Amino acid sequence: MLSSEVVLITGAAGKIGSSTAIEIAKNNGKLILSDISNQDLIILKEKIVKYTKKENIFLIKSDVTTTEGIENLIFESKKHFSKITSAIHCAYPRSTQWGKSFEEIKLDLLSQDFKSQLGGAIIFSQKIIDHFLKEGGGKLVHISSIQGIGAPKFEHYENTNMNSPIEYSAIKAGIISITKWLAKYYKNKNIRVNCISPGGIYDSQPEVFVNKYRKSCTNIGLLEPIDISGMIVYLISDNARSINGQNLILDDGWSL
Ligand SMILES: NC(=O)c1ccc[n+]([C@@H]2O[C@H](COP(=O)([O-])OP(=O)(O)OC[C@H]3O[C@@H](n4cnc5c(N)ncnc54)[C@H](O)[C@@H]3O)[C@@H](O)[C@H]2O)c1
Repeated sequence: MLSSEVVLITGAAGKIGSSTAIEIAKNNGKLILSDISNQDLIILKEKIVKYTKKENIFLIKSDVTTTEGIENLIFESKKHFSKITSAIHCAYPRSTQWGKSFEEIKLDLLSQDFKSQLGGAIIFSQKIIDHFLKEGGGKLVHISSIQGIGAPKFEHYENTNMNSPIEYSAIKAGIISITKWLAKYYKNKNIRVNCISPGGIYDSQPEVFVNKYRKSCTNIGLLEPIDISGMIVYLISDNARSINGQNLILDDGWSL
């Protein structure tokens, strides 16, 4: 399905990034796998070579919270495969304050999270779409969250040390907004920008949370990364050519 695609994934070594990389490899797309952790990229490549030739995979360490990091990533990727046709922005940089309670948060680290997550997503969009325009088009997928479409279900976190930070909600709502903005701004340029809002992914959370979360859902509860990556493959395929500027909620009915 993706044999003519060269797909750049940021945060490729993470839960959503790595699952997406595997699904793209299975669909014959070429992969540019970028992450701040080189070691994790090497481990990921070992998993992916089961599904594609190693020449179809380019690994590049990069920090996508800086303009230079993003520019270098795109420059080196173009040099390697001569083009990039799609990009999935899965990188998830977090400050040392991430996860602190609302009462504890401080402005300097709050600014750092807004800069790296939301500012980073905007500058990544600016730079990758500039490349797409030179190539005659392209597809960009951002990752928001169910926390970007409504208030957290605070009751799910009772008796755990988990929380859902206020800045996460603000950043994820912002991701949905920039998706719509970009899709409309680049009208008639053969650019598609969409985002997905996944529900929580199972990651050894406490049982008390898992059980409460499940009760808010319809069939599954916490998701597996594959529940997200299949939709990303679809979004960058030609089957999704009419989908632009959308936020697709993948949450097993959590938000109903
Ligand atoms: N996991 C979930 O339950 C869930 C649910 C909804 C939405 N999301 C969203 O999905 C996206 C990906 O989440 P995930 O669960 O795969 O996260 P993850 O922590 O598993 O992976 C994130 C990856 O980003 C990389 N990274 C961190 N800082 C970076 C930087 N400065 N430059 C480049 N790479 C960097 C990390 O090394 C890591 O490999 C995030 O935007 C997250 O908010 C996750």
